[in-house]
Order: sequence, then structure tokens, then C-alpha cells
Amino acid sequence: MLQKITNSFFARTPISKLDWQLIDESLSKSAELDLLNGNEDQMFHCQENILNATVNHPLNLKYPLPEIYIHSFLKALINKVEKYLCEIHYQILEKYTALVCKNLSGIESGYRTFIIDENTSISLKENISIISDGTTGLCTWQAAFYLAEWCIANRERISGMAVIELGSGAGLVGLTCYKMCQPRFISLTDFHPKVIETLRHNLKENQVITTRSGSSINVQSLDWMEFSRNEIELEADLVLASDVVYDEELIPFLVGTLVKLLQPKRNLNKLPSAIIACTERNEETLERFLSELACRSLKYEHLEHAPVAFACERNYPVRIYEIKPILS
Ligand SMILES: C[S@@+](CC[C@H](N)C(=O)[O-])C[C@H]1O[C@@H](n2cnc3c(N)ncnc32)[C@H](O)[C@@H]1O
Repeated sequence: MLQKITNSFFARTPISKLDWQLIDESLSKSAELDLLNGNEDQMFHCQENILNATVNHPLNLKYPLPEIYIHSFLKALINKVEKYLCEIHYQILEKYTALVCKNLSGIESGYRTFIIDENTSISLKENISIISDGTTGLCTWQAAFYLAEWCIANRERISGMAVIELGSGAGLVGLTCYKMCQPRFISLTDFHPKVIETLRHNLKENQVITTRSGSSINVQSLDWMEFSRNEIELEADLVLASDVVYDEELIPFLVGTLVKLLQPKRNLNKLPSAIIACTERNEETLERFLSELACRSLKYEHLEHAPVAFACERNYPVRIYEIKPILS
């Protein structure tokens, strides 16, 4: 049961949305047993187990979550334990008081770890704010989870493909695709220098081997404004992008980039396609994107969502499109 807490804790699920019912049930059972036994042993162990699944978990040493998040978690945990009128575990108190004494307001970044299965997890250095350092690319956006899940569900299709990701941000989709789908190569691209720096850091932290037999991964600078207008050659079988449709002014350049990447190259039987996941925030912006596709001779179809693989918040609907060139 604590694995579920570990998964959502390290994915930095908002504190109020963690499965507190599960924690409460376990505390309540321990309190009942202690009442029968006339001691506080079970409660002590229960708190220790919760700490070991979260704040004391080895992942938090290697890829520490932002301290402000740990502070809020411990505060909420103390409130829960206090309900049972028993002693708060000394480690909870020690850790909490150490954080209370720090000024945490200016601390912006820390890691988020997404546990996909027993053998695979992805740890990303991410900022807390959705816009920081003048870019939207330093945190994972919601559509990225859906696109990464689509990749996992379609791993056989992706295996052996040359893949380019546009506007990679913190790198969740690209790293999931690399770790789970065995593409021939995958390029994670973005244009903002700080995002490129963070992407390189995240590749290194995840110890992905930039070339391994049959598969390689790299980070490249690719600005849609430049790429769509200039003679830059890049080839891909599959283009991936999540949450890149949010600014109307960027749409012509984004679609221009897709047009170039999806041009049929040598083999007309094997046309490249793009899978784009878009959060439905603004209907008009999405409509503008779809009509720009049609104007530039690209067609699209809606794809089904894949099974859930990531513990994350899902506040808005997300649409997944497969985009291909219209052949004359
Ligand atoms: C909302 S974020 C989404 C990041 C990531 N794909 C995700 O879903 O978490 C949009 C991304 O597009 C990138 N971007 C914006 N304008 C761009 C451009 N002209 N060329 C390339 N990337 C761009 C940003 O740097 C940012 O990483």
C-alpha cells in the first residue's frame, strides 16, 4: 500500500491530493492495536514506515524533492498523527523543525521522480513554478504524461524508429520514449538555453547512455521560428510534442516545422507522422492550430488515451492527434 504513496509523493502530487485516506487507515489500525497493548509501538512503526516510503526513501537522497514540498508533507502528516493523541515520531519532528527554521520561500527547484515500473523511473530536475527564468520549459506539463503513456503503449511501433521531440521542456516524454521504447535514436529539442541546459542535466542524472547498441539519445537546439524558415535538414520517422500549442503567434512556426519534418523523404510506403498531445485550455488556440494544419496540407486524427502509467494530477482534458501529410 505504501508503494502508491511513494509513487505519488515522488511525482510531487499536491499535498492535499496525496492518498491521505490510506495513511489514515494505517494510523488508525496502529492506534487501535496500541490501545489493546497499552503501548505506542505500532504507531511508532507506522510513522517510521511512512517516513521510509517518503522523506527517508533512498530516492529522496539521490534526487531530493524541493524542501518546501517536504515541509508541507511533514506538516500535514503531523496533523494526522496528532489526531490519535500519540507521540509524533522523533525523526518527523527533527526534520520538520529543521525545515521550519529555514527560509524556503525563494527555493524554486528540486527533483520529481516518476516511477514507471519496478525497473524504470525517471528523475527530472524541475522548477515549481510553471513559468520561470522566462520560459515554460522548466517543469513538466500535463499533456506530457499522456504522450509518454501513449509512447509506452505503442513501444513496439516506436522500436527502431528515428524520433524527434519538439519543445521537450524538462524531458519526460523523450526520456520515457528512450527508456521504454528502444527507438533507433531520439533527439530531444528545445530553443531556450536554460531548458537545453536542464535537459542535458536530466539526461546525465538519469544515466542514460547517449549511445547504446541499437539506440541513442541526444539534446539539440531547435527553434521552430528558425527551422521552419531556413534550410536545415533533419530526418525523423516520428515527431513527438506535448503542450506546445499554447501561443497563437507560435502556431505558424510550429506547423511550419511539422511540414518540413513530415515531408515524405525516400520511402513513400513509410511516411513520417507526428503525435502531438494538447491540453484543452483554450478552444480557439486549438482550433487555430487545426486550421493551420489543414492550410499547410497536413491531416490529423484523434487518438485514444493509453492506460495510465504516471501518478500525476489530471486537471484538464488532453487531446492526442496523429498528424500526417496529405499526399496529392
Ligand atoms: C508548455 S512547455 C511544454 C514542455 C514539455 N513538452 C511538456 O509537455 O512538459 C512548451 C515548450 O515549448 C518550447 N518552445 C516554445 N517556443 C519554442 C520555439 N520557438 N522553438 C522551440 N521550442 C519552443 C518551450 O521552451 C517549452 O519547453
